[in-house]
Amino acid sequence: MVQTVDFLKEVQPDKSYRLLNIGATGIVSAVHDGVEDLMPAAWICPLDLLPFKVTAVIDKSHFTRPLIEKSGFFGISLPTVSVAKEMMYLGTISKNDEKDKVEKSGAEIFRFPGYDIPFMRGCAAYMIFKLVPEEHNQKTYDLFIGECLGAWADERVFRDGHWIFEQADPSLSTVHYVAGSHFYTMGRPHDVLL
Ligand SMILES: Cc1cc2nc3c(=O)[nH]c(=O)nc-3n(C[C@H](O)[C@H](O)[C@H](O)COP(=O)(O)O)c2cc1C
Repeated sequence: MVQTVDFLKEVQPDKSYRLLNIGATGIVSAVHDGVEDLMPAAWICPLDLLPFKVTAVIDKSHFTRPLIEKSGFFGISLPTVSVAKEMMYLGTISKNDEKDKVEKSGAEIFRFPGYDIPFMRGCAAYMIFKLVPEEHNQKTYDLFIGECLGAWADERVFRDGHWIFEQADPSLSTVHYVAGSHFYTMGRPHDVLL
């Protein structure tokens, strides 16, 4: 696992949406009453610039979901390829079936000061969201909206409001879910000159 926590820098609120512009697979996490859970989610998307808002599709069957509904908060992190195996465990096993899923996954958990949301070490970026309750969306479409309270990214891959994967070690790449256990890592840069 690559260590990223020591390299985290706060991301400016008006640039935080860019963390999700690259379509990386995330890990949604939440805690309620001391019970925590983490699950990967590919269906996460920016919704608004400032305040930065996100949408996340979280199925009714997932243990993580009521933790979000009850606590009113959730986290999203963007795992690097170095913790893809731990992420797949979190996404293959439900805490409904395995109470010690998080411990068994091998994920190393940490928290940001002032927040009790669990995050996995080894991610390129971390975001904390306050749930914007929209019961209709949640019930009908499993669609959750969050407003960003804070965002951090590893300065070796995200600096001055921009991703800089081309300057970083490949082990710091985000992962981009395809199907099964198949992912892409970050591709080649391409700048359009107008
Ligand atoms: C790579 C990957 C992406 C996933 N994306 C989503 C998603 O966007 N939305 C969702 O509801 N479930 C998604 N899942 C499924 C959940 O992560 C999985 O069912 C998880 O085990 C639920 O855990 P829980 O019941 O402990 O909350 C994904 C799984 C994987 C492996």
